[in-house]
Amino acid sequence: MTDPTLMLSTGNAGKVREIRAILGDAGWRIVTPAEAGVALAPVAESGRSYSENAIAKAVAAARASGLPAIADDSGIEVDALDGQPGVTSARFGGPSMRDDLDRNALLLRRLEGVPAAKRTARFRAVVALAFPGDRVFTREGVIEGRIALAPQGANGFGYDPIFLLPDGRSTAEIGEEKDRISHRALALAALRPLLAELRAQA
Ligand code: IMP
Repeated sequence: MTDPTLMLSTGNAGKVREIRAILGDAGWRIVTPAEAGVALAPVAESGRSYSENAIAKAVAAARASGLPAIADDSGIEVDALDGQPGVTSARFGGPSMRDDLDRNALLLRRLEGVPAAKRTARFRAVVALAFPGDRVFTREGVIEGRIALAPQGANGFGYDPIFLLPDGRSTAEIGEEKDRISHRALALAALRPLLAELRAQA
């Protein structure tokens, strides 16, 4: 059989590359909205959980395209801040934050005086797979670490320069290795068996 088509709910080049690297041999032809000629209206990420947001984005993409679609939602959870910013990571600090650098600086300020042992944190991602007709599946991935005392490394995006792995490197210092160990990579890897199973029904 020819590979069925799987729509991505994102045109973000980094995410597209990562998803293709992880799911490229899963037996699906992965297309972006632009490649499929589908215009996706932006979906407000107003849910209280990663899964609510991921499901909303995947369902919207499946409805708009008539194809099975995947979407992800993610964030960083800091134990010393009772799990914040979590699902609101992209908006941490509100509209006065200009960019990721501002958000990282704010997070470091909030943790001033907190010793290394208490700076534990994790990245969490939920990936949703939606079929036209609104049948939806979700899978989750988590990577544990801690918040650095100061930013380190120049790769990655978002909170990567201040997120330290157990070996002391930040996720902005590990390059493509991140595509194998990240929360998003783990969530996508967990989706693989399901994609294989559902391929026959697509
Ligand atoms: P979204 O899933 O694209 O909405 O991302 C949520 C927010 O969490 C982003 O704006 C980033 O700040 C943060 N985030 C999610 N995943 C990562 C990551 O792998 N590295 C750094 N920051 C991340």
